[in-house]
Amino acid sequence: MRAAIAAAEVGDEQRREDPSVAELQRRVAALLGQEAALFLPTATMANQIALKLHSRPGDVLLAEETSHVLIYEYGGAAAHAGLITVGLRGDGGRLTGEQIRDAVPSRTKVADQAPAILSLETTHNSTGGRVWPVAELEAVVDAARDAGLAVHLDGARIMNAAVALGVPPAAIAGRFDTVTICLSKGLGCPLGALLAGPAATIERAWREKHLFGGAMRQAGIVAAAGIYALDHHVERLADDHARARRLAEAWHAAGVPVDLARVESNFVQVDLAPLGLTRDDALARLRAAGVGLSSTIHPTVIRAVTHLDLDDDHIAQACELVPTALGVAVAA
Ligand SMILES: Cc1ncc(COP(=O)(O)O)c(C=O)c1O
Repeated sequence: MRAAIAAAEVGDEQRREDPSVAELQRRVAALLGQEAALFLPTATMANQIALKLHSRPGDVLLAEETSHVLIYEYGGAAAHAGLITVGLRGDGGRLTGEQIRDAVPSRTKVADQAPAILSLETTHNSTGGRVWPVAELEAVVDAARDAGLAVHLDGARIMNAAVALGVPPAAIAGRFDTVTICLSKGLGCPLGALLAGPAATIERAWREKHLFGGAMRQAGIVAAAGIYALDHHVERLADDHARARRLAEAWHAAGVPVDLARVESNFVQVDLAPLGLTRDDALARLRAAGVGLSSTIHPTVIRAVTHLDLDDDHIAQACELVPTALGVAVAA
């Protein structure tokens, strides 16, 4: 990837003259089954631009209550788009068509504040990288469309979802009005994200990119990393998923509280409550043992993430070290 960055052809991205950015945008649009895509510095900016494109200030955004757009984007939906946010209780990050229908009351007067957008997320970060089955996702998209909502997909980790399901990413993303994909997570780029959608929508998104200060110059050095990642880092996501499962099974067998049914991609969540450990204590013990886990929004839950800098030896070490560090290692 460093070599691809060094060799990148570049131009002025703000003037739409960077060939590497243009190629990445074309590649990602095709990959996601959309007409066009726009290169942006972060997935947060891609989500925020999408929310603005689909709404007017005072409109209502519906999303699962622990979704990234609601809890990790610093209130951007309100600050940038003037949206009222309504969080719906999900199951593994997933909603149902019935919940959408219930959340969109029939209008009593022309000026009622109106739900305008539904934002969905897969894989779903806060629930531990859970994956929406395609048919369930489609049913919810249909319900939202019937209710007159625009539908955005926060697919920051859509490539993990596609690999986990064994389907092309377009089978997940193609029916949405807009889709975010992030390059800096499992795909392993230093930064970057794209927003994909119909050509006319993405043309409007260009203006927002400038407004947000996200229009860059020789951004091809980063786009080249994205192209490299699409060529070299997608199939290997299956390795990350297999390693997460291996960790989860080893920890579970050793008595670490892990729900195996929830390990669907590259995250493993550990619930500390049954161990009587605080999050800070657990993370400090793990750090001292040389294993990096991180906190989640759930006060007693920490998580491990497998990624391209980890190999089988690292996983074998973590299988041994974590139960001991958490004080649960049971004698065989
Ligand atoms: C589901 C989801 N969406 C969006 C983002 C934002 O990504 P970025 O750090 O590129 O803004 C994240 C980051 O963790 C995420 O998990």
